[in-house]
Amino acid sequence: MNRRGFFDIFLGGGIAALGAAVLYPLVRFVIPPEQPEATVSQVVAAKVGELAPNSGKIFRFGKDPAILVMTPNGQYRAFTAICTHLDCTVQYSSEMQQIWCACHNGHYDLNGNNISGPPPAPLAAYSVSVRGDQILVSKA
Ligand code: FES
Repeated sequence: MNRRGFFDIFLGGGIAALGAAVLYPLVRFVIPPEQPEATVSQVVAAKVGELAPNSGKIFRFGKDPAILVMTPNGQYRAFTAICTHLDCTVQYSSEMQQIWCACHNGHYDLNGNNISGPPPAPLAAYSVSVRGDQILVSKA
């Protein structure tokens, strides 16, 4: 190998290494590695005494919103807060004593059943338990 051939290989290798050093972080940024979603089976939704009768609270169940309701007679109920129509977040309406979706006026009763408006299915129910001063919600 002559001197020119050596420098051609040397420069070509350097340019290739520089290109890889620039492109690799860009590709990793644009296409991030898959990370498994942690599955959540139980969360603390509220503290005892936080909700008054006939009220509700939105909380996070993993990455999704959920709703904890204290019925007018003091029972706790919990459901996914994702409307079964087009995935808006529902809320509790103390005036109607129902779970209500403001997006298209969908109504659910306090058992999560769709009772009027466009929602095609009931809300998925969670089980509620009280441990100490914490209200725990878990997948039923
Ligand atoms: S998204 Fe809830 S009623 Fe349409």
